[in-house]
Amino acid sequence: ACESALGQVSSLQDLESARVEYLGRKGRLAQAMSAMAGLSPQERPLAGKTANTVKERLTTLLSERQTALEQAQAQAELAAFDPSVPGRAPWQGSLHPITLVMQEVCETLQALGYDVVMGPEIETDFYNFSSLNFPDEHPARDMQDTLYIRDKVLLRTHTSPLQVRSMLTRKPPMAVIAPGKVYRRDSDLTHTPMFHQIEGLLVDRKVSMADLRGTLTAFVRRVFGPDTRVRFRPSFFPFTEPSAEVDISCFMCKGTGSCASEACRVCKTTGWIEILGCGMVDPNVFASADIDPEEYTGFAFGLGIERVAMLKYGVTDLRMFFENDVRFLGQFF
Ligand code: PHE
Repeated sequence: ACESALGQVSSLQDLESARVEYLGRKGRLAQAMSAMAGLSPQERPLAGKTANTVKERLTTLLSERQTALEQAQAQAELAAFDPSVPGRAPWQGSLHPITLVMQEVCETLQALGYDVVMGPEIETDFYNFSSLNFPDEHPARDMQDTLYIRDKVLLRTHTSPLQVRSMLTRKPPMAVIAPGKVYRRDSDLTHTPMFHQIEGLLVDRKVSMADLRGTLTAFVRRVFGPDTRVRFRPSFFPFTEPSAEVDISCFMCKGTGSCASEACRVCKTTGWIEILGCGMVDPNVFASADIDPEEYTGFAFGLGIERVAMLKYGVTDLRMFFENDVRFLGQFF
């Protein structure tokens, strides 16, 4: 009866039920064994032997059947597998657009011979302000713009502290860039309390404003394309004299101002976009670093990375860079 029952079994589940029915603790064989208690002593050895033979035979049958069923199942699974179905692409990460622009800007300036230097984001008043020729009563020191940790200790408001820091650790001639995060108490459509800058500093004998202009023009054309036009506007920074702000031609109208009619959001219809501040190192800054301004001159520049990223990628809302929506971030590589 068991052998024919096993022949019918078509799944591993049914096989298990059959095993329980015949060989289980309360199964048919167990019942037959306990019935042997009622046999005469002469009959018992034969009955016992028979029971054992049956048990072995059933065990073999069950395991054979199990192997057969398992093989059939594996074969069915293999048959159902279609190797021509296209795979699902794994979820892939990408670098943040700000990181990408940072890398590109750093690589471009490294190619011009600049070394990358790093400094702390928590700065002292000395490196962030005093050493850079900010007078004591300068409005930028107000709680307005600066995030103070405690008296004379603050989150750096620009990467310019790296000017004096690197002049104290290196000797001219020197050319360094300092990429990093900076902080200001400011938050609206075009300002976030944390943003990124790259500082550049070059000190040598006979460095002139013409070197600054040439360097920045070459740099801007490498990053934004060879047709980009560059405009220097007189400006003021306590740590450079003379100082300038640099505009590049709007990528919408290429500096012609023709995007004015379309109320260009990128350049606010002026045809130009401000991307950096720069100038010749002020003699008072050299004094903070014990460099003789009669012997050496230099230039410095500070570039806003978010600005560059917005221009390069045509992003019009600065906040998108920091909302971390993967649908936005996944578009840059
Ligand atoms: N530190 C200035 C700023 O954050 C930029 C700058 C750097 C200007 C170096 C001149 C020279 O606005």
